[in-house]
Amino acid sequence: MARNKTLIVGNFKMNLGVGEASLYVHELSQLVKSHNDVEVVLAPTALALQTISLQVNHRQFKLAAQNFYWRDHGAYTGEISASQLRGIVQFGLVGHSERRHIFHDSDKDIRAKVQAAIRNHITPILCVGETAFERSEGETAAVLHDQLIGGLANVTSDELEEIVIAYEPVWAIGTGQNALPHDVSMAIRAIRNQIKHLYGAKASEEIQVLYGGSVTADSASDYLVLPDVDGLLVGGASLDAHAFSDIIKKAHKGLAAKR
Ligand code: 13P
Repeated sequence: MARNKTLIVGNFKMNLGVGEASLYVHELSQLVKSHNDVEVVLAPTALALQTISLQVNHRQFKLAAQNFYWRDHGAYTGEISASQLRGIVQFGLVGHSERRHIFHDSDKDIRAKVQAAIRNHITPILCVGETAFERSEGETAAVLHDQLIGGLANVTSDELEEIVIAYEPVWAIGTGQNALPHDVSMAIRAIRNQIKHLYGAKASEEIQVLYGGSVTADSASDYLVLPDVDGLLVGGASLDAHAFSDIIKKAHKGLAAKR
């Protein structure tokens, strides 16, 4: 994805029912003005996607699936495919640490989901990040390297233009222990270096990279001012429409400050 817009993604995870999510979107729509330079993406429960897709002004908010299966159709009880989400969502999270660690999504699953998303005109947001242990062992860059190789194995240069990467250190997710901006810069630089190695300098400069992990309205600007950060993937703080709208406003100002 081109880096001309800051992407602010709210991942509700398994929170808010259909009615609550719908009320939330109504409330957020009152609080947030559309900015040409900020793209706001909401990832509610899959149950609410259809309703919200009919409710929202698509210029104001885009929608994301939190997860999907990589086959398009068939006997896969309980699953939702990217082809079923096509036309409802514009983005899909892939490789979120909760999927990797709780549901054991493997690199093979993740790369198949990246392909399924692209095949169905959904922009994959490929999440990568190290655990606390890997970090303490000095393995951050190696883990990012492996996760990028794993997730992007079948992706062509043209397809890479349709992908967003999110750096979410596992130890910072839902812990209140957000990463230091300097460490985020280092990690995202490692990600861009890997993209350069795989796809060349132009691709590494153009790919959109987000930060996620305990971002709040107070800390959002610390990341948004970083030259390598093109947006945020927000969990807990996105559940409060006021807090999330503050983050969106900061994104608008952050981009203004970078220019
Ligand atoms: P928190 O903002 O709650 O730490 O969650 C981050 C995240 O996992 C977003 O996908």
